[in-house]
Amino acid sequence: MSLYRSSIWYLKGLNEYTRGAFESAAKRFVEKDLEVSVAGRSFMITGANSGIGKAAAIVIAKRGGTIHMVCRNKDKAEEARAEIVKETGNKDIYIHILDLTETRKVWEFAEAFKKKFKSLNVLINNAGSMLMQRELNAEGLEKNFACNTLGTYILTKNLIPLLEKSGDPRVIMVSAGIMLVKKLRVGDLQSERGRFDGTMVYAQNKRQLAVMTEQLAKTHPGIHFSLMHPGWVDTPAVAEAMPDFHRSMRNKLRSPEQGADTVVWLAVSEAPAAAKPAGLFFQDRKVIPTHLPLAWTHSSLEQKERFMTLLEELAKSFQPH
Ligand SMILES: NC(=O)c1ccc[n+]([C@@H]2O[C@H](COP(=O)([O-])OP(=O)(O)OC[C@H]3O[C@@H](n4cnc5c(N)ncnc54)[C@H](OP(=O)(O)O)[C@@H]3O)[C@@H](O)[C@H]2O)c1
Repeated sequence: MSLYRSSIWYLKGLNEYTRGAFESAAKRFVEKDLEVSVAGRSFMITGANSGIGKAAAIVIAKRGGTIHMVCRNKDKAEEARAEIVKETGNKDIYIHILDLTETRKVWEFAEAFKKKFKSLNVLINNAGSMLMQRELNAEGLEKNFACNTLGTYILTKNLIPLLEKSGDPRVIMVSAGIMLVKKLRVGDLQSERGRFDGTMVYAQNKRQLAVMTEQLAKTHPGIHFSLMHPGWVDTPAVAEAMPDFHRSMRNKLRSPEQGADTVVWLAVSEAPAAAKPAGLFFQDRKVIPTHLPLAWTHSSLEQKERFMTLLEELAKSFQPH
């Protein structure tokens, strides 16, 4: 990332991504947007054992929703489930163990889920990975891409038929502001070229998620797709992957509840999210641009479609027989 682009993103972040910015944005929130019952509706949340995912699960569970927690670690998932049940009194909280970097298992999981459950109203693709070293999964894929992009794609694509037959279906992708410094790159999905920079691979994956959201929204108009940025949030992911940033920003970071607010708003509120055209990018319950002003990060429709074709081909090559 050039110094210019990183500075613009950081300054934007200081203005908009902090706890203070959330508190100021919250003054315009409409309280009754979240005063809804979602009893009878089901919500799948990846990475629901921690941070933003767990905070979203708690608010949705309080409103009566059935929660399918998709987590990779059984102990952490059980601990979080116990906490969610205790805090909300809602026992309709189900654990599914899945590591999203395990590409074939993501297929198997989605297929099995479709057979077992009659409906899924909302899919929240929240889990995110920022590995700083280049690691490969059993299928030979770079793990950040396997989790953040391909795993999310395979899960979403395979659950689309189930979502489409459920009432008012929605898909929410948790992206990150850092995607703003990246242009979609279709030629090196496995980050094989040049020096491996985990933060920039993560930023590229989040840009890929934005393009995926926009394109899936077009091809599946029956589902309301949206992308969101939670702001800078104090979670284990930030503390572990970016310890210096975490230390220096500690007092300015949002709480997981604040980070989850727009996720929950997109997932449960009736009019605002559903009324807008699908495929948009949200922050603090507001649509924001997917590019910085005068940015060079725009891609042609042809490049976006090429990316979707590559994803589909890659996904299909791991489909279990
Ligand atoms: N925090 C921020 O400032 C910030 C800013 C922008 C975007 N985001 C995005 O917000 C989302 C949630 O992150 P967070 O900040 O809440 O961090 P977090 O508390 O560490 O939560 C991340 C969740 O993702 C799960 N996960 C990671 N890799 C996985 C994999 N391969 N398979 C299945 N689950 C996996 C983690 O599981 P384990 O607990 O087992 O590790 C955890 O449940 C991510 O997509 C992140 O990119 C966060």
